[in-house]
Formats: sequence, structure tokens, C-alpha cells
Amino acid sequence: MQYFTTTSKASRRAVDCVIVGIYERGKLGAGAADIDAASKGSIKRLIKSGDLSARVGSCTILNDVAGVRAPRVAVVGLGNFKAFGVKQFRVALSTALHAITRTNSKQALNCLTLESASDASVYYLARHTAQTTAGVLYRFTQMKSARKPAASSLRTIGFAIGKRSDAAKVMLGVKHGDAIGIGMSLAKDLGNLPANICTPGYIARVAQKLARENKKLQTRVLSEAEMKRLGMHSLLSVTAGSDEPAKLIVMQYKGATRQSPVVLVGKGVTFDSGGISLKPGPAMDEMKYDMCGAASVIGTMAAAVKLKLPINLTVVVPAVENLPSGRATKPGDIVKSMSGKTIEILNTDAEGRLILCDALTYARRFKPDTIIDVATLTGACVVALGHHHTAVMSYNDKLATSIVAAGVASDDRGWQLPLAEEYASQLKSNFADFANIGGRDGGAITAGCFLGKFTDGLNWAHLDIAGTAWISGKQKGASGRPVPMLTEFLLARCGALP
Ligand code: BES
Ligand code: MN
Ligand code: ZN
Repeated sequence: MQYFTTTSKASRRAVDCVIVGIYERGKLGAGAADIDAASKGSIKRLIKSGDLSARVGSCTILNDVAGVRAPRVAVVGLGNFKAFGVKQFRVALSTALHAITRTNSKQALNCLTLESASDASVYYLARHTAQTTAGVLYRFTQMKSARKPAASSLRTIGFAIGKRSDAAKVMLGVKHGDAIGIGMSLAKDLGNLPANICTPGYIARVAQKLARENKKLQTRVLSEAEMKRLGMHSLLSVTAGSDEPAKLIVMQYKGATRQSPVVLVGKGVTFDSGGISLKPGPAMDEMKYDMCGAASVIGTMAAAVKLKLPINLTVVVPAVENLPSGRATKPGDIVKSMSGKTIEILNTDAEGRLILCDALTYARRFKPDTIIDVATLTGACVVALGHHHTAVMSYNDKLATSIVAAGVASDDRGWQLPLAEEYASQLKSNFADFANIGGRDGGAITAGCFLGKFTDGLNWAHLDIAGTAWISGKQKGASGRPVPMLTEFLLARCGALP
């Protein structure tokens, strides 16, 4: 996608389509007011006639409006003037883009960037425009045998800006939004691929390919034999029932000299049947998404590399398949983790924490400045927060707060849950150092506490994305979250935000 900025009026620019917005109660957005003036009141007349809706999520395309150079005007609803913010901006823009991609437009001029979205700067509006565009244009067609549906003809997006001096901020926003879009699309592809294609080995090859394309990025893949030598018996217990070889994927990006890295650890269970503690049948197919933590940290790496961020970033992905078999781990089995601590596996379906604890222990060798693990870890998290907020847990409130803030800024939100001592005591075991489950109550938190037993002395946070990593129902598919939140966190850290 190509982007440009312009200070010309909506009615004066000869593009295939201009996007303008109207608020409730007949209030026109900046672009719509200009179109209305140029066309002798056509917009106001259409509003009066009841043919133009101001509802957020509605869009009407007008053709050949008199006095307007562009042959198409997409009029989108912006809702209540006072309530207009980033959320409304994103929905309105994506509605417009969906409508425009059904026309033959090659260029579109986005005039919604002129709206005084009280809670966002032009930088963020530009970033959301690029990110939203990538989201609207994203298609997952790899698995269809028929001819791929025609890609949209949209090639260029312009930003209407009020003053020339905003141009640099817009282009910076576009650059960042584009990179986030690339990271999200990669994460969505990995998430959407079925488990018979997207195996641990497949994820490893994707990581290696990224490294081949970028000099500053190195990927190493550890085999099961190497993991065994390292003493990762907790991780290996999860893959015991599967014929698919497990992999420990390590990606190291060096964008800075002499600086301890940020380490991102992503849960990569390519299919979670539950193991011997088998899951019920309905919707079990969705457990192909159980590697979305891995997908999102690899996607974030792709964004960081694309932006050449001046930062050291390491990604660690334990990738395994969780299946029952004659060799599978059984409830009651006790394993020794790489840290030396012993774990009583009371439920083989609580496998994410078993691979993450060894990955976290392994990651100590990188002397991380900050370490964040990302995992579709618990159904309890979905019960607690639903599908809108990612759960954020940390013993360091400052770190948790900065992650939550990154979620707000990027509109990829998270909510902190308390890792209080009382929850950790639910993990007591009669036979080993502790058990891998802590009962039904507070399940997202006890899972966090389990990981916390392996992060002593580390500046660590845990993100449970079980509710946010994919969308169920008719629009079923991976969401690409939390790539925006993580990339924002990195951008803020290296002072790359305006
Ligand atoms: N991958 C699941 C968590 C999950 C469930 C993610 C539903 C998304 C939607 C995880 O491995 C799991 O099975 N967790 C168990 C833990 C329990 C046995 C303590 C769960 O949440 O039921
Ligand atoms: Mn499970
Ligand atoms: Zn799982």
C-alpha cells in the first residue's frame, strides 16, 4: 500500500474515492462539510431525507456528486460527536474500506483524520489507518483450492491533514501501522493454519525464514535431544504423546549494542487435545489456535525487524503438540523441570504452563532486562475478562502498568489481575514441589502464579490471551492480538513515539 498526505480539500482532490464522516443530529465532519458546500448542500439534503445514516458502522457510497472531483464519496457514520474517539474512528474507517474494496477504486483519500478525535493525535490516527487497512485487506486463502478471490484494487491511501507540519507525524504513524499490520498478518496466518500444517517444525521454519531475510536477526532451533540434555523434562512431558517433534525456537534481533534484551516467550502448542485429560469434542478444532502466543511474539519480532528498532529483542518459542497416546504423560505423573523444581501433573490439559516454565528458565541465559510471556493459557481467563481485554499479570506493578498503558495507546487493551500470595497456595502438592493446577477458582491467576514460581529475580510479566487471540463464530479466525500492544510497548521503550 502507498500512502500520501494532502492539505487539499475533500472536494478538490481527484482520487477515486474520498472518505468523509457525519455525526448524529445532522452535524457534518470536516470533509463532509466541504463536500456539502461544494455540492450546494447535497449531503445535508440526503441526511434530511433519511438516506444517510450517522450510525458508526454504516457507510453509503455516493457517485458523481456535483462539484466534487472524486467520482465516489464514501459517507460513513461517526456516531455521537462528543463520544467520537479512536474506537469509532477504527470502526468507521474499516466500514468505509470494506465498502470501497467492493468498488473499483485504486485510491482513497481518508478525511476522517481531520476529525478532532479528542483522545488521539494525528500520529495514532495515521497508524490506525495503516493497521486497519492491513486488517481489512487480510485474506486467508492458502487452504482453498479454488482460484483466490480477487484481491482488492485499492493501492493508495491519502490522509487529509489540516496543516503541512502534520505530514511527518502522519508518515511516521503509517510506517509504524504498516509494520504492525505485517506482524499481525503473520500472526493471523500462523494462527489460522490447521495443526496438520502448522506443526512445531513449521513454526521453526517460518522463524528461520524471517532470519534469512534480515541480517540482524538470528534464529536457532533446539531439538528434543538438546532439550533433554538441558533438563527440560516439564516441556518434554507435554510432547510425550505426540509423534510430531517438539522444537524450542530462539530468535535474536540485535538492533542495539550492549543492552540487555527484552525477551518475549510465546506458548506454541500447535494443537491442544488436552492429552490424557482429553478435552470435550465440541469446538476442539479451536485448539489449533493454542500457538497464538508464539504467533504473536514472532509477529512482533517481524514488526520490530521491519522498523529496525534500536533495541535488542529475543523471542523464545516452546513449540509442541499435546496428544494422548500410549506414551503420553498421565495425571499424577511427576516431572523435574529445568529449574530443578518438581511438578505433579494433575491435569495434562494444563500443559501451557509446563512448556512455558522451562522456556522461562532457559531464557535466563539472555539476562533479560524485561521478560514477557504470551499464552492462550486458561479458559478461566475467558470467563474473567471475555474477549476484549488481555489479562496482564506481574509482580512488578510498574511493568504491568506500562503494558496496560501500551494496550490503551494501541487500542489493544489489557487488564491487570492480582498475583497475590493466597492464589499461589492453591498449587500445593502432597508429592512434588507443587501441582500444575490450582482448582477452578481464580484459574487465570493460579496459572500466572505457577509461572511466577520460575521467574524469581526476573522483571517478568505474563499475558493470558485466551480470550483475545482469536474470534469465534461466523467471523472465526485469529485476531493478530496482542501484536499492537507488544509493538507499542517496544516503541515506547526505545523512544520511537512522537
Ligand atoms: N489452551 C487451553 C486454554 C484455553 C481454553 C484457551 C479455551 C482458549 C480457550 C489450556 O491449555 C487449557 O486447557 N487450560 C485448562 C487449564 C485447567 C485444566 C486448569 C483450562 O483452562 O481448562
Ligand atoms: Mn490445555
Ligand atoms: Zn493449551
